[in-house]
Amino acid sequence: MAPSIQELYHDFVGNDVPNAKHRRSSSSFDPNDISINARPCDLGRVSGLIDDIASYNWGDIDFSQDRNARISLLSKARSLIAALETPRETLLRHIGAETSNFYTIVIGIETNLFHEMAKDNGSPKTATRLAEAISFDPDLLRRILRHLASMNHIIQTGEDEYRPNNFSKALTTSPIAGSYQFYRNICLPSMINLHKWLKTKSYQSPTTTIDNPFTFGHQTSQTFFEVIGSTAKNTEHFNDHMVAYCQGQPAWCSNSVYPAADRLISGFDASPQPDGSDPVMLVDIGGNVGHDLQTFVSHYPSHPGRLVLQDLPSVIAVAPPSLTSPLPNGKYVQLQEHDFFTPQPVVGARAYYLHHIMHDWPDDKCVSILSQIKKAMKPGYSRLLINEQVIPEKKASWEATYLDLYMMVLFGARERTEKEWLRLLEDGCGLKVLGMYGPGGGVEGIIECEVALEE
Ligand SMILES: C[S@@+](CC[C@H](N)C(=O)[O-])C[C@H]1O[C@@H](n2cnc3c(N)ncnc32)[C@H](O)[C@@H]1O
Repeated sequence: MAPSIQELYHDFVGNDVPNAKHRRSSSSFDPNDISINARPCDLGRVSGLIDDIASYNWGDIDFSQDRNARISLLSKARSLIAALETPRETLLRHIGAETSNFYTIVIGIETNLFHEMAKDNGSPKTATRLAEAISFDPDLLRRILRHLASMNHIIQTGEDEYRPNNFSKALTTSPIAGSYQFYRNICLPSMINLHKWLKTKSYQSPTTTIDNPFTFGHQTSQTFFEVIGSTAKNTEHFNDHMVAYCQGQPAWCSNSVYPAADRLISGFDASPQPDGSDPVMLVDIGGNVGHDLQTFVSHYPSHPGRLVLQDLPSVIAVAPPSLTSPLPNGKYVQLQEHDFFTPQPVVGARAYYLHHIMHDWPDDKCVSILSQIKKAMKPGYSRLLINEQVIPEKKASWEATYLDLYMMVLFGARERTEKEWLRLLEDGCGLKVLGMYGPGGGVEGIIECEVALEE
């Protein structure tokens, strides 16, 4: 019987394991035999992967709606490519095609190439016409377009003629374009120095925000967030990336991740605060420009209580005006400048929410941040919600593993496994973990905590 999509999806979370019948016994390996470089990387998996893909009727699926099916097929297709490619081809794709890909995309963003391509509803345009529009050497642009087409980022419609696809159209949006700039300016200069930094430190993990591949690569004594806040462009590109990263992910407060109606709204104490003000439902600490609060509002438009967005002054200053317009329940999101290493000004809220905060900081700094929140939490009522990866011990997704490495490089920090979370939250901070919610498979989940009561 054909496997269900759910079975395929869960199977995907990691590497697909083809049936044993498709495995071939590995012949003995001779490192001097360079002919290995021209043979498929994992031929033994190829027919199993083809069978896996063929065993389900993908044609019936609406991939724009069914995320699990799309991710499952994507994973199998990627595994098939990796198995079929030879080491030579993988090498050239990594070091040649993808590095030039990245920088030609950056050039296209900076010169408005993709905006020009998207004009007139994305109709096909010649390299000459595009070069004229963006004041570019036509011969050079032709070479760049040829490469982008060979990498499937644009479509060649004729000799010297191209049109954009959905990816190249998305390169005109600020979340995607800004993310490329963020990686070019901030992340890659850090990652390309990882090997040098590790060598000077005898291959020990970075554990501080002030001495890591980021500070080494940028030759700075400033931390990542100090550099991000130091220019309007850096702030803008970083904020763009936070938006891009979160797009298309299951909503954090939906039933498929965290059932906020049951866990937060039910049990909310609507009595006024001692100063007569409305009690607070949710404080998004380090909430950037407020996208997670907007998600909450769109799921629970008539929620009771106030919403508060906290971040550094440079970020609060650029929160979109739409955030402070009246909510469907007639209330407003309150914007508050706040440094999370200082005492939490909102006391006794129903929930304190941290998304992508803990993974930016080494354990000792996480303990400092959490101790400020813990002091403001009302025992038995307030909940701390941490929205992050919980890396499984086996079959971790690339979406979690690459992020873990970037957190190490940029902050001397990490993504955490379930055991690491429990050690940090319960042993390190005196919190009690009530539950870990979410679908896994590289999708972040919610770790729900409350103040542990003294025995
Ligand atoms: C990785 S971003 C996460 C943003 C948002 N929570 C999200 O998931 O999209 C980290 C956020 O923490 C903020 N931040 C960094 N240091 C901070 C501090 N000391 N106090 C308050 N916010 C801070 C940054 O400005 C940034 O918006």
